[in-house]
Amino acid sequence: MEKLVNKQIVLGVTGSIAAYKAAELVRRLRDAGAEVRVVMTQGATEFVSPMTFQALSGHPVHLTLLDTDAEAGMGHIELARWADAILVAPASADFIARLTHGRADDLLSAVCLASDVPLALAPAMNNKMWHNPATQDNVQRLASRGVLMLGPDEGGQACGETGAGRLQAPEELLAGLAELFESGLLSGKTVMITAGPTRETIDPVRYLSNRSSGKMGFAIATAAAEAGARVILVAGPVAQTTPSHVQRLDVESAQEMFDTVLANINGVDIFIGAAAVADYRPVQVATAKIKKDGGSLRLELEPTPDILAEIKARYPGLFCVGFAAETHDLQTFAQEKRYRKGMDMIAANWVGPAATETDGAFGSETNALLVYWEGGGVELPVAAKSHLARQLLMHIAQQYEQHAAHPAEQKVVSLTTPDRH
Ligand code: C5P
Repeated sequence: MEKLVNKQIVLGVTGSIAAYKAAELVRRLRDAGAEVRVVMTQGATEFVSPMTFQALSGHPVHLTLLDTDAEAGMGHIELARWADAILVAPASADFIARLTHGRADDLLSAVCLASDVPLALAPAMNNKMWHNPATQDNVQRLASRGVLMLGPDEGGQACGETGAGRLQAPEELLAGLAELFESGLLSGKTVMITAGPTRETIDPVRYLSNRSSGKMGFAIATAAAEAGARVILVAGPVAQTTPSHVQRLDVESAQEMFDTVLANINGVDIFIGAAAVADYRPVQVATAKIKKDGGSLRLELEPTPDILAEIKARYPGLFCVGFAAETHDLQTFAQEKRYRKGMDMIAANWVGPAATETDGAFGSETNALLVYWEGGGVELPVAAKSHLARQLLMHIAQQYEQHAAHPAEQKVVSLTTPDRH
């Protein structure tokens, strides 16, 4: 179940006799590599103790909407942002009805309403409740809004009846949930991503670098692999674990990053420069540690190769996506940068003090992006980097398809403003 590795799953448990089966599900999800936060409705707690889920998930269980302590920790909005997907298992008839009507009068329904990540429901109820036209109508309405229905299975029920309404088996639920992450959007394509900072050596113990954590680049690599691409991730020095099905090439300096990119560029369809490459490096690298002598020290710096601009200049047909991290005039600088480096797309985000509006970029779990391409753009509001990466990749795949279909039209580069929506 590779697709669930590193996924952040909110597991909603509602009031059904099948609630005890969700305990096994938590264990299976964690075995599959997912991180799980459990949200229980009041009804669910009548069947199973939150302690069970706390022990199995390794995190406190989220129970109430209007609890100031809980909201100060990870409240409903944070939970909604944190999730890569939400699975409600078991989903009772009552919960399905409340979800259909967009109710937000308990924590789980509020999290579902506040989230735009994939949502899967595993109904479990008495078979007559399941077949009731009210429930069937609700289920169809939810399915038409993109909610994935997993089950229910048929068989003997806790109430003594036989029929449809049993919670799907854990392995089937896991497989169904994994499908949410398999878009196939980039199958057959090779995507190269640069990520993280670079280090420019001053002497054997010192270097010039920046605050990039590599999280965004790694999230994009994960999303690209999920979308079925072959992924080459050229990573500067970062403390991130390698996403599964990703070929990782570690580098240190801008020059090494450039050389590694060039050495592996053949066959690449999409190049995404998410690395915060140092713009300058010391002209002289001292072979011994530089000693302080009480006076000032001057470092002479020279520019590093601009990897993205060089790659686009050498391979004009290659679809190139860049990033722009700015402390001010984000839109102007981003568009100017896209134009200057000949990029097909640019994703811009705030850094520094201005970033507080968007939760910060460097090192933060969340981010927000303004994305521009020739003739258009889109604003991706603050969300978990994993979620944002998936959205960004969807736009990249769309623009790449257009680029591949009409390569000549892409040569005209001009400054444009994104449609805000
Ligand atoms: O010019 P600036 O550094 O702001 O441009 C940012 C974009 O260019 C990012 O996509 C970054 O990965 C890329 N870049 C690069 N090589 C450099 C500097 C930036 O690929 N030397």
